[in-house]
Amino acid sequence: MQRLVIDGGRRLSGEIITQGAKNSALPILAAAFLPRGQTVIRNVPRISDTYSAMRILTSLGCRIRAEGNVVTVDGDGCLSEISEQLMREMRSSVIFLGAVLGKTGRCVLSYPGGCELGPRPIDMHISALKKMGAVITEEHGRLCCTADNGLNGVSIALPFPSVGATENIMLAAVCARGETVIKNCAREPEIADLAEFLRSCGADISGDGGGTIVINGGKPLHGCEYTVMPDRICAATWLSACAAAGGELYVKNALHRHLDSVLSVFEEMGCQLSFGNDGIYIRANKRLKAPGTVRTMVYPGFPTDMQAVVMAAVCKAEGSTVFIENIFENRFKHVGELRRMGADIIAEGKVAVVNGVPTLYGANVEASDLRGGAALAVAALSAEGRTELGGVKYIDRGYENIEDVLSAAGASVRRIG
Ligand code: UD1
Repeated sequence: MQRLVIDGGRRLSGEIITQGAKNSALPILAAAFLPRGQTVIRNVPRISDTYSAMRILTSLGCRIRAEGNVVTVDGDGCLSEISEQLMREMRSSVIFLGAVLGKTGRCVLSYPGGCELGPRPIDMHISALKKMGAVITEEHGRLCCTADNGLNGVSIALPFPSVGATENIMLAAVCARGETVIKNCAREPEIADLAEFLRSCGADISGDGGGTIVINGGKPLHGCEYTVMPDRICAATWLSACAAAGGELYVKNALHRHLDSVLSVFEEMGCQLSFGNDGIYIRANKRLKAPGTVRTMVYPGFPTDMQAVVMAAVCKAEGSTVFIENIFENRFKHVGELRRMGADIIAEGKVAVVNGVPTLYGANVEASDLRGGAALAVAALSAEGRTELGGVKYIDRGYENIEDVLSAAGASVRRIG
């Protein structure tokens, strides 16, 4: 089992280039199942989740070529079953459902079940696809979805603006007959990125980025060339790393328009921020101040995916920070590990209270989810002494070579095992 060995106490400096967004690349790879001809997707992060998505595309009959961050998909796939093993590799593989059902009229895949963030229900995905005409049955954890006469455009009002449900409906709707209207859809930037990709393939979509998306389905889709947007969660991780360890860092390709709610928290922490043409400059030279209360919300609110890394940064801040996790049930698993490093945190239900301490200490800790793992790395950068961080496979799901990125910015991080 691989571990990261992190010697804390080194200030960060220089530049980090933000990788392409995992949460855009995954639905875009699923969408690449749809067009005829060749699709070239640039800026795809080389992380285990995108490799899993490519394996799914291959298993569906597509030809894939990956060279660096460029993935070429020949959209000749027309198979419709995703094995349980591939589904288990990546819980968000349910995103393929809308595309596969839309294109082939059938999709068999296993239920995503529980994951490291607690149960991950897909009831909204299922009920929307049923409304579009799919027949969906479940047997022994396998979902069998059929639409023998194709899908129909309908009006869907989501009870909650789920990112995955919005994406699945978009992917199904571009293949459906007529108009689909998604009300109370997710507004995350990754939704607009997926919509832009689909438009580049010839789809007729409008309203993305707002609360209602309208899709005129059934347009012929062709291959295209597309560049995935930068990863706002990785950008926030590097800002957190600098805030925690101290120093001055330019986070290239961080788009501040995607980061408003998180940047105001860094400002409250006393970090100095300025915006370059193509990134964000952060300077953290003093002890951080606790930013008060941080509530996770849907976009444009403070993202649940940034809760853990920001928590790691405020462990040593002056004062107390309250985190209220409103999106996922089970998203404080990093708290116990941060406490092993000397953090003073109490968590119950959806609330965690961090009382800042002057010092964190290196320890043996274990990641049990992607962002929680990144948070432990951030804390380790600001700790006295050596941290050995296990569960690196979770971090590798979302960060390209985290040890190289942080080492290039002056940290001491190496991978062993
Ligand atoms: C996506 C992101 C994930 C991020 C999350 C919230 C990807 C690959 N993953 O996950 O990184 O943390 O958005 O910003 O893009 N829910 C239901 N029923 C459903 C669907 C969702 O109850 O049918 C609930 C979930 O359990 C969760 C909440 O809605 O509590 C938000 O989930 P959702 O927005 O769907 O997140 P994901 O698409 O899974």
